[in-house]
Amino acid sequence: MQMDDGLEGVVAARTVLSEVDGAAGRLVLRGHSLDAVAGRWRYEQVLALLWRGFFEDAPDGDALAGALGRARVEAASLLRADDREALSALPPVEAMRALLARVPDGDDLPTALRLVAATAVFTAAVLRWRAGLPALAPQADAPHAADLLRLAHGAPASAAQAAGLDAYLVTVADHGLNASTFAARVVASTGAGLASAVLAGLSALKGPLHGGAPGPVLDMLDAIGSAGAAARWLDAALDRGERLMGFGHRIYRVRDPRADALKGALHRLAEAGGMQPERVALAEAVERAALASLQARKPGRVLETNVEFYTALLLEALGLPREAFTAIFAAGRVGGWIAHAREQVRGGRLIRPQSVYVGPAPDARQECAEPLPA
Ligand code: ACO
Repeated sequence: MQMDDGLEGVVAARTVLSEVDGAAGRLVLRGHSLDAVAGRWRYEQVLALLWRGFFEDAPDGDALAGALGRARVEAASLLRADDREALSALPPVEAMRALLARVPDGDDLPTALRLVAATAVFTAAVLRWRAGLPALAPQADAPHAADLLRLAHGAPASAAQAAGLDAYLVTVADHGLNASTFAARVVASTGAGLASAVLAGLSALKGPLHGGAPGPVLDMLDAIGSAGAAARWLDAALDRGERLMGFGHRIYRVRDPRADALKGALHRLAEAGGMQPERVALAEAVERAALASLQARKPGRVLETNVEFYTALLLEALGLPREAFTAIFAAGRVGGWIAHAREQVRGGRLIRPQSVYVGPAPDARQECAEPLPA
């Protein structure tokens, strides 16, 4: 038997959902390249694409949008009067973990819709509570991204803002067998149900090596402050042995295509007056300096910009606070977790790898001398 720390060279699933081509820097979502859908499709349409064939009565994008709107209203009824006091002090992703645990398990389309709806509604509610405000009621007939922004901000989103969030949710909807999707598939493979699989995905997403990086990207930009200070600040961080958030990837050996999709969305938002051009310019200067420093220090390892760098800028421009970025990421990736969980249940076996025991061998004499536990 071979052991592969981090399972880097292990193929653990067959999937029709997405292909991550790390050498070419290409992401395919069920037959569509990311470039063809990001910024063009609504999140509901990508959900319909990913879920096609995995539920008995999977609707098309428009029907799914209506059902998802009704599911948002239903999800809001899972919130309780004392949640605000009990949960607003927690980091948003932890509050969301507690709230999502209320969604009953199931394997059908209503459960799937409820989970996508709940992820968005709960994220917005947590943000409102943290601002000392009450949660708002969802609008069943609104597009999902626009309603999420309205629920978070308490005011309707502009068309450019809604399009920006749609581009984000679509871009992160699925991405091969990343850590959180693998966690979701492991749980689904036991037959535990969709809500359990989604909770596993969320828990894996929380870590800074996966979905927890974009908040720290903004911390880094704030600490750098100006384009001229970038190289010195970044070199000092690397000298301290720190990793630069928003750079490097386990699979991509070229630029993460999602970084460009989000950079495009950011520029469209800036052109519509939705963010300050100086912030974009600072980010691009920091990106150039970071890539140069990483290249100089690790000439044998391609460390490129990943999805989290422009995620941070885009979500900031949409007025979402950095501590909520991982929860918003989950609001997009939840669609992929669900599709993978269904695919695993349909065709897969129980996922159960083996471990190599490297502890001490039992000492026969000592074992004989030890009394049996009571
Ligand atoms: N900054 C500085 N050095 C880095 C970075 C980075 N961002 N990424 C990798 N390296 C270095 C490592 O220290 C390592 O150096 P060493 O060989 O001297 O120990 C070398 O490059 C190879 O790194 P690995 O650990 O093999 O890379 P791995 O594939 O395990 O990690 C990861 C990928 C976790 C994304 C890593 O690049 C990282 O920590 N990046 C910063 C956090 C981040 O942006 N996370 C979001 C990822 S995207 C997502 O999950 C949605």
